[in-house]
Amino acid sequence: MKIVVVSGSMRDKSQSYSVAEYLQKRLAGMELDADLVDLNKQRLPLFDDSDTGEWQKIWEPMEEVLAKADGFVFVTPEWDGMFSAGLHNLFNYVASGSDKNTMAHKPVMLVGVSSGMGGAYPLAQLRMTGPKNTHFVVSPENLRIAQVKEVLVDGEIVVDGVRERAEYSLKVLIEYAKALKPIRESDILDLKKFGSGQ
Ligand SMILES: Cc1cc2nc3c(=O)[nH]c(=O)nc-3n(C[C@H](O)[C@H](O)[C@H](O)COP(=O)(O)O)c2cc1C
Repeated sequence: MKIVVVSGSMRDKSQSYSVAEYLQKRLAGMELDADLVDLNKQRLPLFDDSDTGEWQKIWEPMEEVLAKADGFVFVTPEWDGMFSAGLHNLFNYVASGSDKNTMAHKPVMLVGVSSGMGGAYPLAQLRMTGPKNTHFVVSPENLRIAQVKEVLVDGEIVVDGVRERAEYSLKVLIEYAKALKPIRESDILDLKKFGSGQ
């Protein structure tokens, strides 16, 4: 079982990255294969459909890592009430990628991060717009981390309720990853014909 955690912030020293690192460590503690993709360091150019060969050098190795996953954790900062442009850009690559199965019918745990009281808007937005052409499946158990600097201290979640919620949401994600496997293996799926969700 492999879970890929994606950190969506485009900032150095981002709190979303610290949250993503924490969650990756927790998954590794559950004896899962857990990778971390940092969209700040592994920066994809803004998507276009050109054929220059430049973006493929960054995208193709990333696509390979994502395609091997059984599930994902998407950690997004709340920036101007929205989910990260990095994740939005990534979804354009996934939906246009050579491998239509990169995210399709794989479960996703959403995590919204805010230094203030935010984090809910990006969760709602991701739920509404994320799955259409990527075909990922959003777990109902998301995680909102408001006032992140008070909650995540020295790499640990110090607020009991948030730490317990994080643990619970990860465990539910793993169950969804197991449960959706037969669906991904089913011969019913036809992403060539129905690649664009309506
Ligand atoms: C351009 C920008 C816009 C932001 N807008 C919001 C916002 O609308 N709501 C909010 O709660 N926090 C906002 N923040 C603060 C982030 O919640 C804060 O930086 C937090 O640490 C998560 O972002 P990070 O992962 O980039 O650190 C904003 C930060 C930046 C850099």
